[in-house]
Amino acid sequence: ELGRFEHYMRKEIHEQPNTVRDALRGRLRLAEASAQFGGLNLTARQLRRVRRVVFAACGTSWHAALLGEHYIEKLAHLPAEVEYASEFRYRNAPLDDQTLFFVLSQSGETADTLGALREARRRGFPTLAIVNTVGSTIAREADGGVYLHAGPEIGVASTKAFTSQLVVLALLALHLGRLRHLSYDEGRRLIAALEELPDQIERVLAIEPQVEEAAHRMVQATSALYLGRDLNFPIALEGALKLKEISYLHAEGYPTAEMKHGPIALIDPATPSVFVAPRGGLHAKTLGNIEEVRARKGPVLAVGTQGDDQLARLVDQMLPIPEAHPLTQPILACVPLQLLAYHVARLKGCDIDKPRNLAKSVTVE
Ligand code: M6R
Repeated sequence: ELGRFEHYMRKEIHEQPNTVRDALRGRLRLAEASAQFGGLNLTARQLRRVRRVVFAACGTSWHAALLGEHYIEKLAHLPAEVEYASEFRYRNAPLDDQTLFFVLSQSGETADTLGALREARRRGFPTLAIVNTVGSTIAREADGGVYLHAGPEIGVASTKAFTSQLVVLALLALHLGRLRHLSYDEGRRLIAALEELPDQIERVLAIEPQVEEAAHRMVQATSALYLGRDLNFPIALEGALKLKEISYLHAEGYPTAEMKHGPIALIDPATPSVFVAPRGGLHAKTLGNIEEVRARKGPVLAVGTQGDDQLARLVDQMLPIPEAHPLTQPILACVPLQLLAYHVARLKGCDIDKPRNLAKSVTVE
């Protein structure tokens, strides 16, 4: 089953052009510049009444939800909140009948997430689930939802499920946006960008030898910082989680500008920073933050837009991703970070598909 791949994690990273295609399949409504879902079980009228969206999830699925919050805000102009499923359940968080409540789970069996879903149901609110595993407990208990169609994910570190979650969340936000103020042209631009993703991911996968080189720069470190702004902040968190999980190298994700409020104290020649810094809003400020790290002799890696020579000159190594729509760029930016974690772990001789202390689905609270 592994074919030419040594580990499921690497195989699943390389499946992403196809899994992203599968997440999009049958869900685009070109004539209306919108999206459609078979299992949401909500009419356009019901969706127009929504005033707020709440997501509950854990781990990588929680990171996907953080991007979902951006997508919902930017495309549908609705307030969105992201809760740790384990916290939501015990917090008496307010829900009302104009709130759309989603849980996200790759496995559909995570106890904390299932607990959040059951709590919302107990309080009488309809629940929706974005799930990969067909027929899983969460998929069965939710009132409606969307499947990722990413196929079985075996590696304990979630990779392809994450990018599929992002695609589904972008489609949901597009759908909600088009029922409100999002213009036809903006909708079409996003659809075109989503359709480009499989080929663009293919191009990112082709830089794997460069990522391996970057992994050699990280492998001696005991701690690393991952920094990103706006939509790239959740990508920084996810990059750090991947590294922690499978290489046991300590890593923290922060919003780039937050660095100077504390984490900058950690910077020294042995502590690499990984900036998620594709071109776009606030890029000049990010370059300034990189200079602050350089001034303290911190090694710097960056995920940047292909052809961004200014960034490339400033850092020890830049991992290039193709220029893309601002909302799909983070989906591309996470791929080199998945590969980076993989190659650091491989260089350290770690058991990549079965990292210590972790299980594929966490079925205890
Ligand atoms: O199956 P789920 O998406 O509900 O799992 C949630 C987390 O346990 C999971 O994402 C975990 O953080 C992964 N090991 C991340 O790689």
